[in-house]
Amino acid sequence: MQILSTGLDVDLFLKTIQGKTLALVPTMGALHDGHLALVRHAQMLADAVIVTIFVNPLQFGPAEDFDRYPRTLHQDLSALRPLGIAAVYAPEALDMYPDGVPLTRIHNPIMGSVLCGAHRLGHFDGVLTVVMKLYQRFRPHVMVFGEKDYQQYLMIHTMMRDLDVPAHIASLPTQRAKDGLALSSRNAYLTQDQRAIAPHLYQTLRQLKDALILNPNDVKSLLDHGCQRLHQEGFEKVEYLEALTLKDLSPWQGPQTPGRLFVAAHLGGVRLIDNIAI
Ligand code: PAJ
Repeated sequence: MQILSTGLDVDLFLKTIQGKTLALVPTMGALHDGHLALVRHAQMLADAVIVTIFVNPLQFGPAEDFDRYPRTLHQDLSALRPLGIAAVYAPEALDMYPDGVPLTRIHNPIMGSVLCGAHRLGHFDGVLTVVMKLYQRFRPHVMVFGEKDYQQYLMIHTMMRDLDVPAHIASLPTQRAKDGLALSSRNAYLTQDQRAIAPHLYQTLRQLKDALILNPNDVKSLLDHGCQRLHQEGFEKVEYLEALTLKDLSPWQGPQTPGRLFVAAHLGGVRLIDNIAI
C-alpha cells in the first residue's frame, strides 16, 4: 500500500498502474467499519483501489468542528493495510489548495439549498469542489460513496451527469451498529447515556416510514409527530425531519415517486444524521 501525499506522488503512482481500472474512495479519515465497507465494495468494482484521506477545510463553516474533527492517520493506515489496496492519498491542505482557498466553487442551488445545505451554508460547494478535484487528480473509473450521506451522494451523482464527467458513481447502504445507529466518526463524541439514546433516530425513521406508507396523505402531521418523539427521547434539537423525492429533493408527493426520509438532530451538542428509503 503506497502512501501518496503530493500531486507528484500521484502522477508517479498512476504510471505504475496504467491499464488497470481504478476505484476511488474519498474520506476525511477517522475510519470506521462504514468506511472499510466502502473500500471492500470498491475492490469488487475495479482492479486497483485508492482511498483519499483529507479533512477538507472548504466544507466546514466557521462555527463547525473543523479544528476538533478527529485526525487519526496512523490508525487509519493500520486499518487499511490488511485490505490490500493500491494506495492512500493523504495530502496537506497546501497540496490540495496551493493558492489558498480557491475562488471557484461548484454549486448546485437546488439540491444544495435543502436539508444539510440549508443548515450548513457553503458545505456542499466545498464537498462538490473537492470531489471534482480528486476526480481530476486520479481520473478513476468509479468513485464510491455511502448512503449515510445520501444528499451528498445524490449531489455528486448529479454533478457528474450535469458536467459530463465519465466516472461511475457507486453507492453502498449505510452501515449500522447492532442497535441501528449509523456508524459515524462523530459517534465518538457521545457520552454513554447519549449513545443509548442515539439509536432512536433510526427507530423513528423506520416507524415514520411505515406510517407514511399507510397514510401517504398525512405527511406533515406524521413528520411533526416524529419530531415530537425525538424531543421526548432526549434529542435537544431536530434540525430537519423531511420526506423528499430522490429526483431533485423536492417534497415527497406519495408512493408514486421514489422518496426518502432524512433527519438531522442534535444530542449533547453532537449533530447526527440518518436517512432511509420510503
Ligand atoms: P466522510 O464523512 O469521511 O465519509 C466518507 C465516505 O464514507 C462518504 O461517502 C460517507 O457517506 C461514507 N460513510 C460514512 N459513514 C458511513 C456508514 N455508516 N455507512 C456507509 N458509508 C458511510 O463524506 C465525506 O467524508 C466528505 O464529505 C468527502 C466526500 C470525503 C469530501 O470531503
